[in-house]
Amino acid sequence: MSVVKHRILDEIALIEVSNPPVNAISAAVRIGLLETIEELSLDEKILAIVITAPERTFLAGADIKEFGKKIDAPILGNICDKIESLNKIVVASLHGTPLGGGLEVAMSAHYRIAAPNTKVGLPEVLLGILPGAGGTQRLPRLCGVSMALDMMLTGKHVPAKKALEAGIIDVIAKNNSTIDNGIEYAKKLIKDGFKPRPTSQMEDKISDKQEISNSLIKIKETASKKYKNLFSPHAIIKSVEEGLKLNFPEAISNERKLFEECIQSPQRQGLIHSFFAERANTKVPELKDGKPIELKKIGIIGGGTMGTGISMAAMNAGLDVIMIEQNDEAIEKAKTKINATYDRNVKLNRINNEQKLEIMSMFSATTDFNELKDRDLIIEAVFENMDIKKEVFSKLNRICRKNCILATNTSYLNVNEIATVVDDPIRVIGLHFFSPANIMKLLEIVVAEKTSTDTVATAFDLAKKMRKVPVRSGVCDGFIGNRILSKYLVSTYHMVEDGASPFHVDKVIRDFGCAMGIFQVIDLAGGDIGWATRKRKAPFRHKDDRYVEIPDRVCEKGWFGQKTSKGYYLYGENIDFLTPNPEIEVICEQERKRAGITPKKFDDKEILDKYIAAMVYEGTKILSEQIALKPSDIDVVFTNGYGFPRWRGGPMKYADMIGLDKILKNILKYSEEDPRFWSPPKLLEDLVKQNKNFDSLN
Ligand code: 3HC
Ligand code: NAI
Repeated sequence: MSVVKHRILDEIALIEVSNPPVNAISAAVRIGLLETIEELSLDEKILAIVITAPERTFLAGADIKEFGKKIDAPILGNICDKIESLNKIVVASLHGTPLGGGLEVAMSAHYRIAAPNTKVGLPEVLLGILPGAGGTQRLPRLCGVSMALDMMLTGKHVPAKKALEAGIIDVIAKNNSTIDNGIEYAKKLIKDGFKPRPTSQMEDKISDKQEISNSLIKIKETASKKYKNLFSPHAIIKSVEEGLKLNFPEAISNERKLFEECIQSPQRQGLIHSFFAERANTKVPELKDGKPIELKKIGIIGGGTMGTGISMAAMNAGLDVIMIEQNDEAIEKAKTKINATYDRNVKLNRINNEQKLEIMSMFSATTDFNELKDRDLIIEAVFENMDIKKEVFSKLNRICRKNCILATNTSYLNVNEIATVVDDPIRVIGLHFFSPANIMKLLEIVVAEKTSTDTVATAFDLAKKMRKVPVRSGVCDGFIGNRILSKYLVSTYHMVEDGASPFHVDKVIRDFGCAMGIFQVIDLAGGDIGWATRKRKAPFRHKDDRYVEIPDRVCEKGWFGQKTSKGYYLYGENIDFLTPNPEIEVICEQERKRAGITPKKFDDKEILDKYIAAMVYEGTKILSEQIALKPSDIDVVFTNGYGFPRWRGGPMKYADMIGLDKILKNILKYSEEDPRFWSPPKLLEDLVKQNKNFDSLN
């Protein structure tokens, strides 16, 4: 069946595009659209053409799957130019999310009517590209350069009302019936004598050259800092700035040239990988049959860092929360923290005071576990200690309803073991939130041996309600994220003991694009947390395992990072950001001497190679053990929970892009020095042998 149909209704031709799920503008849509437009352009009886896509949404943009492939079909830009040049009135009747190429088609129409539910945007920047079908030229003509650049640089969705005020659309319809809206509007335009109105000829909003030049200076200054690692934001600004100095067809071909450059950029590959990875993460086997239970009332055990954050995430999702703490003092502390967070949100105008009170009315706290009787789901966030967790779960087993889901927020502990104290372990699951839990997007959903599919489905449903990015993980020490983190932490300690400076390591990681360096992260999380884990694992350490004591020496001095104002860096009111603690280098030198190591120099490449190799090494093991179901899940964990640059796609995608043979070669080299730590993973060797990449496992 054709993806583009049309019918003639007297003097109006109605075009209907149907390419589920989101009416992406695939090759078939482009071919159908162009053929239809050409056919209709020859019919003199037709006075107006209405373009619609009546199902879920108006065209949501180009078909992202086609990028980078050679496809024999007309390019969208040419179709837009053709639409604009028609000597009949063209109306785009919008609803849903006309984004990217979808909005570009709409802007090449002569008039735009939008259903009240419409949100428009040019989010190409989020995919590492620029609007390549006239968007960088037509949007400034409709809403002015500043707003157009703001939309194109952030990719934000603009609701109908704001789009109307800005001039992007002409009218908001009364309802969401996109076909009727378009036809009625076209009839009115014909009746009132309106003529075709090409956006390319609108000069009003781009006529004040001085004002535009001033705002471009400011925008470029901000962009040079904000998007310093990125390619496409600067290409967008360039296309707008240069386009204003050219005639329209020249500006369009300049935009096309810049678009092609973006398409060739590895950042486009990384970002598009992230886009699809963040949709593939919810495709897990348990969701095929699992039915979520209805969630309204939640219990949170523990009101510390995580308990308070998770409570707020739950309340923000409209869930009623009862928190359990050990004593009144701890309750007060938790309440004060939650209250202060919402007060800050009020102060920053994110919510108003009424909304704050409404949210706070969903919260109560007590020391009495019996209050949890009516809860649908419990999330435990007490100290990271197996005995304490088991004691809590035993109580929950006794008190909670039999179908209440019991989740633990443990970072490392064995969820199977925790489940042993519950009569019906099918309802036990790990829900590993990240700090601050009310902000961080990632949620690892840890499926234990006996967890039921309904429990898993409920966890994914909770993630959706909380607007988290869920990733399914199996049970192992640290699950996906912290297990990989542990590997590259230890590998970094090796490097530091061998001679690398922690501050050099951090700089290399930041320059690579990560939000923070490794030692910055330790200071933020608190060095004591890792110290406790190292002590816990000490009895299981093999005598031949290399163990670096530098971080222990730092902790023994009480330097836990930000919370003690001193860690690898110094903190305080008059201290510059990223000021190294000078005593760290002294400790490193002493420890190298003690271990009998002659320090060597590390260059940036060596540091980065080892960091990536350690991530990919552990990632590969996690895949072989089916802790992660697919490489893209590991990527989602790192881009959403560990500050790995999204535009590099995640560690596994990055490995694919630089070549798995190179990573394996490095691992083999490292294994010569330390075969216990670096024995090459079989899966990686197999992939290299078969000339395959991680993407082949997605
Ligand atoms: N191309 C191909 N597939 C797309 C797509 C696109 N542009 N947009 C969405 N999809 C797919 C998704 O991968 C998903 O597939 P799946 O069901 O197999 O996982 C399905 O459509 C539904 O998507 P969502 O789960 O994201 O559905 P939502 O309802 O939550 O969101 C949306 C809908 C707001 C349209 C969101 O999908 C979205 O933001 N899409 C991307 C829009 C975009 O970036 N457009 C610009 C494209 S680039 C362009 O147009 C270039 C031009 O300038 C030349
Ligand atoms: P925390 O020390 O800040 O808070 C723990 C709270 O639990 C304390 O307020 C304590 O009073 C309370 N508590 C202890 N035993 C209790 C009991 N029997 N009944 C009721 N309350 C009890 O610890 P944090 O950081 O919140 O960690 C909690 C859990 O979350 C741990 O398992 C940790 O590994 C995990 N986690 C921590 C992250 C972090 O960044 N802090 C990130 C992700 C998980």
